[in-house]
Amino acid sequence: MKAALLLSLSCLCVNGLAAEGKQDHYEPGIALPEADGKALILRACTGCHTLEGVPAYSKYWGFDRWLPMVENMIKHGAVLDEREKIVVTQYLARHFGTDG
Ligand code: HEC
Repeated sequence: MKAALLLSLSCLCVNGLAAEGKQDHYEPGIALPEADGKALILRACTGCHTLEGVPAYSKYWGFDRWLPMVENMIKHGAVLDEREKIVVTQYLARHFGTDG
């Protein structure tokens, strides 16, 4: 029982990433500007939580600060390859950071 529960929990994010608009995604909760990276963020970043915490960093974080955050999320289970990781980080730094 316990193993099955853990398994289904850990699958939640991975499955959720496969297709957009699935029930196991959270609403982003914030407006995401139309730009390269938006679709990736919607796919990779809303499986576990809303994005309501993201704007808090807008005034403080550039690319160099967002990168370790995104890498931390990948450690948690966000699915992004090396190239996607950079696109997402640039998007965050530009639209929710100091690189805009
Ligand atoms: C597999 C689950 C998972 C995915 C996918 C995920 N996160 Fe997270 N996120 C977490 C967890 C767990 C925390 C809280 C612990 C921590 O901060 O390390 C968190 C915390 C955060 C926080 C800080 C909390 C706050 O509201 O201030 C931000 C910002 C964040 N995530 C952004 C992202 C972004 C951007 C992505 C996509 C690249 C993403 N997350 C994908 C699990 C995830």
